[in-house]
Amino acid sequence: MAKVYVFDHPLIQHKLTYIREKTTGTKEFRELVDEVSTLMAFEITRDMTLENIEIETPVQTTTSKVLAGKKIGIVPILRAGIGMVDGILKLIPAAKVGHVGLYRDPATLKPVEYYAKFPGDIEERDFIVVDPMLATGGSAIEAINSLKKRGGKSIKFMCLIAAPEGVEALKEAHPDVDIYIAALDEKLNEKGYIVPGLGDAGDRLFGTK
Ligand code: PRP
Ligand code: URA
Repeated sequence: MAKVYVFDHPLIQHKLTYIREKTTGTKEFRELVDEVSTLMAFEITRDMTLENIEIETPVQTTTSKVLAGKKIGIVPILRAGIGMVDGILKLIPAAKVGHVGLYRDPATLKPVEYYAKFPGDIEERDFIVVDPMLATGGSAIEAINSLKKRGGKSIKFMCLIAAPEGVEALKEAHPDVDIYIAALDEKLNEKGYIVPGLGDAGDRLFGTK
């Protein structure tokens, strides 16, 4: 069964408060999402495997650790997931970035895919699918379906704010995908928005309405 990790690091929680605050403008919102994404990337990469190599320090030969194992792929769900990519790339600059374009039909709240492009060596990568919001879970489930359909095997999902409904739906649909979040909120409202949430993540990131 999928595990759910809530990153309660004080810096993440502090910055998330100002991301939620409605008077936070586009520029600051973008910067804060970027910073929280970097902090979350630091936590999510804790289980990366290491191997020993031999190096020469100015003093003597020694063994020291470097990253081993599979390479990383980041998959933002368009649009709002884009706001998390650069923050992650600061820590994992060699990661490749795929994209899944989905929008929620406002009437049905069901995700509609309009774009998908992934790295060529999809089967060999560990993927982190990112989106600031996990509301009904429809978009995350569909994005991961899209990645798996094309050969993606090792997948984590990372978001800023999740609703309990979305977490349950994602766990049920993809029991092999662990979920990493900064906050688990109370519920969804009748329009499918997370309560208390942060509003519409895409609009707040890009200054649209
Ligand atoms: C938002 C958000 C997620 C999705 C979450 O995107 O960025 O992708 O809703 O909702 P769900 O869990 O109920 O699927 P939206 O559809 O508003 O598109 P946008 O990013 O283009 O604004
Ligand atoms: N998408 C958003 O951007 N915000 C929500 O609260 C729910 C879905």
